[in-house]
This record gives sequence, C-alpha cells and structure tokens, in this order.
Amino acid sequence: MIIALNNKCNLLKDEFISYQLELAKLTSQKSNIILCPSTPYISMFNLENIELGSQNVSKNDIGAHTGEVSASQLASLNVKYCIIGHSERRQELYETSDDINLKIKNLLEKNITPILCVGETKQEKDNAKTTSKISKQIEIATKDLTQDEKSKIIIAYEPIWSIGTGLIPTIEEIDTTLSLIKELLPGVKTLYGGSANEENIEYLKKSELIDGYLLGGLSLKPAKLQIFINKAEN
Ligand code: 13P
Repeated sequence: MIIALNNKCNLLKDEFISYQLELAKLTSQKSNIILCPSTPYISMFNLENIELGSQNVSKNDIGAHTGEVSASQLASLNVKYCIIGHSERRQELYETSDDINLKIKNLLEKNITPILCVGETKQEKDNAKTTSKISKQIEIATKDLTQDEKSKIIIAYEPIWSIGTGLIPTIEEIDTTLSLIKELLPGVKTLYGGSANEENIEYLKKSELIDGYLLGGLSLKPAKLQIFINKAEN
C-alpha cells in the first residue's frame, strides 16, 4: 500500500525538526510511506523508514525561472515522488492540465514518479459531471505520453468537496471513479485523498480499488497516522 503525506504549507522549521523525529518512529508492515514536506524542508529530510516526495515541480527545466524548483533539482535531492495538479494549486495558482502535462514529462525524464491529483467540485458531482471532468483532466495531463510512461504515474482521486471538510464519498462513488481511472490508464496505482482519517479508514478499506491514500491533515498528526496505518494494513 502507498501512504503519501502531503504536509501542504504547514510547520515552521523547528516544528518540522520535531515532526521528523516523530515520523522516524512510524512503523508499517507493508506500506510504502512517502513524505511530501514544504519545499524548504526537502533538503532537511533524513528518514530511513519513509521515502521523499515534493508537493510541486516547475514546468520548466533548470534556468532563469525565479522562484521555481526544477525536476533536475528535485532529483539531485533524492526526491522520488512529486504531487502534481493538486486542486489547491489548480484553484489558487491557476495551474492548468497543460501545465501539468509538462510537469509530468519533466518528472518522468528524471525518474521521479508523478502523483497526479484529479477530482470534481461539489457542483460537478451534483450535476453528474464527475466522469467527464476526470476523464478530461487525465486526457490532457497525459497527452503525448507512451503507454509505458502513463503506467508509471500514480493517480490520486481527491474529490475537491472532500478535502479538509470531514466529508468522504461512498465506497460505490470512489470505486466508480477509480475503475474509470484504471480503465483510462491500465496498470496505474490509484490513491484516495480527502478527509481520510484514523476513524473512517475502516470504511474506506472496503474499497477493492484503493491502492493507497494521500493524507493532508492527518499527515501532521504522527500518533493518529500510526493508528491509520495499523488499521489500513490489518
Ligand atoms: P485532507 O486529508 O486534509 O482532507 O487533505 C487531503 C489532501 O488534499 C491531500 O493532498
């Protein structure tokens, strides 16, 4: 199972140091745990039980792009995964699926696994637009990629209305979307993200199509995260 931790824009430097000490105690039987800290802390990463991810990458390679971090720089810091197209970036920073397509290509070239986030708004859900929204997001984000390249991407299904709200979809809703994703991209691993926690994991576990989770709020609470991992694995 994959358990990816998206810290988002959280923790000050000293808090990150204490947090890493807590994460060092995390145990898992069969999960691949990935930490995606805020960018400044990537070079402070020193855990052996966890792999390193980034929350973003530039659509450009190394060069005159002020404020950006390129895939080659991430690779030089031993970053193995990168979250791409999170709804917060699509909404707040107007990131488009075409931008995301360029980012995925840069990452794959540097052997960094993209974790592509897709998901619908509440309004799209209510108007039965989930399938068309997600199909379009995936189609544009994976444009011009070979089947082999496509199969290397991890897709995180994160319904936007579920992020940070305490609301989660039904298993039927999750499985309908994950089976669509697995049909569009044969061989990909699919994560669920959006208010997943140590309580609703017992319910989420009923899905046969969830290969792992992308955790926001829970990623910042190591004790509860350990409970989540234990329940998810057993
Ligand atoms: P929450 O787990 O806080 O709902 O966030 C999910 C998320 O956006 C992970 O990328």
